[in-house]
Amino acid sequence: MADAKSNSAVAETNEAQIAVHWKEEEYFDPPASFVAQANLNDPAVNERFAEKNFPKCFEEYADMLTWFRRWDTVLDTSDPPFWKWFVGGKINASFNCVDRHLAKHKNKAALIAVPELENEDPVVITYQELYVRVNEFAALLRDFAGLKAGDRVTIHMPMVAELPITMLACARLGIVHSVVFGGFSGEACGLRAADSGSRVLIYMDGYYRSGKMIDHKAAAEIAVATAEKEGQSIDKVLVWRRYPGKYVSAAPMVKGRDFFVDDVVGNYRGKRVDPVPMDAEAPLFLMYTSGTTGKPKGCQHRTGGYLAYVTGTSKYIQDIHPEDVYWCMADIGWITGHSYIVYGPLSLAATSVIYEGVPTFPDAGRVWRIAERLDVNIFHTSPTAIRMLRKTGPEEPKKYHYRFKHMTTVGEPIEPDVWRWYYDVVGKREAVIVDTWWQTENGGFLCSTKPGIDRMKPGSAGPGMPGIYPTIKDEKNEDIPAGSGKAGNICIRNPWPGIMQTIWGDRDRFVRQYYSKYCKNPQSKDWRDWPYFAADGAVLPADGYFRILGRVDDVINVAGHRLGTKELESACLTVEEVAEAAVVPVADEVKGRVPEVYVALKPAYAPSKEITDKVVATIETMIGKIARPRKVHIVPDMPKTRSGKIMRRVLAAISNTLDTGDITTLANPDVVEQIRVAVQGKEKVATKEGPEDLKQFGKEE
Ligand code: WT7
Repeated sequence: MADAKSNSAVAETNEAQIAVHWKEEEYFDPPASFVAQANLNDPAVNERFAEKNFPKCFEEYADMLTWFRRWDTVLDTSDPPFWKWFVGGKINASFNCVDRHLAKHKNKAALIAVPELENEDPVVITYQELYVRVNEFAALLRDFAGLKAGDRVTIHMPMVAELPITMLACARLGIVHSVVFGGFSGEACGLRAADSGSRVLIYMDGYYRSGKMIDHKAAAEIAVATAEKEGQSIDKVLVWRRYPGKYVSAAPMVKGRDFFVDDVVGNYRGKRVDPVPMDAEAPLFLMYTSGTTGKPKGCQHRTGGYLAYVTGTSKYIQDIHPEDVYWCMADIGWITGHSYIVYGPLSLAATSVIYEGVPTFPDAGRVWRIAERLDVNIFHTSPTAIRMLRKTGPEEPKKYHYRFKHMTTVGEPIEPDVWRWYYDVVGKREAVIVDTWWQTENGGFLCSTKPGIDRMKPGSAGPGMPGIYPTIKDEKNEDIPAGSGKAGNICIRNPWPGIMQTIWGDRDRFVRQYYSKYCKNPQSKDWRDWPYFAADGAVLPADGYFRILGRVDDVINVAGHRLGTKELESACLTVEEVAEAAVVPVADEVKGRVPEVYVALKPAYAPSKEITDKVVATIETMIGKIARPRKVHIVPDMPKTRSGKIMRRVLAAISNTLDTGDITTLANPDVVEQIRVAVQGKEKVATKEGPEDLKQFGKEE
């Protein structure tokens, strides 16, 4: 949150409980014009998806899809918490997002890809064109790269139409795609490729960012070398070119390993590849995300349940009709892009917009010009982007004649005053807003208002989605009643079709991470004994609208993206001079949270700018620019417990000018004041009030 004052959640903490008070926000009614046309405007949905109808209620979503074979069992709970959905069903995701729309919509735009350079025209891909390109590329994957159902492929690409084409070609053959966010480094990509066992990488040579051509193929060299170091050999790198026929990267093409897609695909012109009927439970993709350890985890998502869940929620919550022009500004390299740029919208035959570049390039009006030109009517973005657009051009939206019926905010808590700017200025008071809370692991939305039914409340995600029964638990595994004013850990009591299947290659970690905390009886085959632990703090007032407070683990939410503090710390520790490292979240006006790094040096070294620069550079190469710390502090020693553990909560308090709390039990309490003065200056300014996640950070240690 921007700062402690604009954050209306003001909290008091003691050992046993956290009481959270905030100013209650007024409700907003969805505009009548929206309600009249909404896919979901009949409150009977609440009854249909009530607990007594679980799990059968989710057939409503599965029935929105075209199945090769209908399922026998909706939910199989025989191996908790490895739930199986729509068992016995056969389905293909590519067929559902492409082929089935041809009869009615072949001439309709499926994708409109907007290049960052404003003098390059948007690229329109109709459903027919998508069908042709997906088939040709699938033929290439099968016949040239030798890939088949169940193989994994790592895709490291920017926001271009070729990215969904690549994903859908994989899905057509049952190849499990693992898309790595384009802004991650080659090294981060290589580690993920190795973990997934990919022997093929798919790249693009370059792309535009802030008006500059980024040499992206250069990252492929590092990715291949990193994967090989991890014992995974890469035998092919398929390279799309930003301008077919014209290579924009300086990295050499390695003979026999690297191939230009636009060269090779010519051999498959006109080829058709039958979509492979996949088991509903076959994995569709992996999406790596950060957790509490240094190693990112591959969230494995299933085909049938996932596609059903994103289709149902895109229809009901995003309110997508085939005639809508839908623009989600997220990156396809994150789960939001998978679910709500590619699979959900395309499954509903919508037009989905993809933008290559920076929202404020070349100026603060760009987003609104795109919306106006393409006549976008559904808009989806994050609080960070909203804060940035407000900061750079608070009056800009008024200059353009777009008209949104629906807007989404996702990825971080949104401050009520930022919400109101979104509503008043961006939405021109005509658009409904949904604040959707969910995670990479979840496949789709978990909490949100139903846009055609529920009133909106700024800063609160809202009630559980249809068929999702959330609860807030305390540390003793008791449910905290609504309206008590106490914060706790938000959990989902039941399984749902979008939940990940497992962590790729690590079943134990899956159980430990999400279920061990609140499962009372590990022998039980009853789903009621297996609440899903989301690692977010939340409060629930009497109206049933969940308000998400932020992560309760070692994850930092930077601009709506997840970074593991342990990942950053491991990167710091590879710097020769560094003996110890601790990473903490710091409140940032635009990005929500940013990381700050504390390092202690080995005895032989003195602090220097070279060392701090080296720490920053190492983080950028090992993870990517998104993990760039705001500051690196070199400290004489870390604040530690008597048993030698670094007290990250003390460092987080110093970085955020919060009260450091009780430090008398530390082994070296004096160092705290030294660090404080070095970071904040002599004067004492600490406050007891602040965002809950910052106050909780490192508490467990
Ligand atoms: C974390 C998940 C959801 C896809 C994009 C991020 C935070 C997400 C909200 C929201 C408050 C939110 C949570 C969550 N978060 N949506 N509407 N309000 N916080 O996916 O990278 O897996 O991050 O983002 O802390 O745990 P992710």
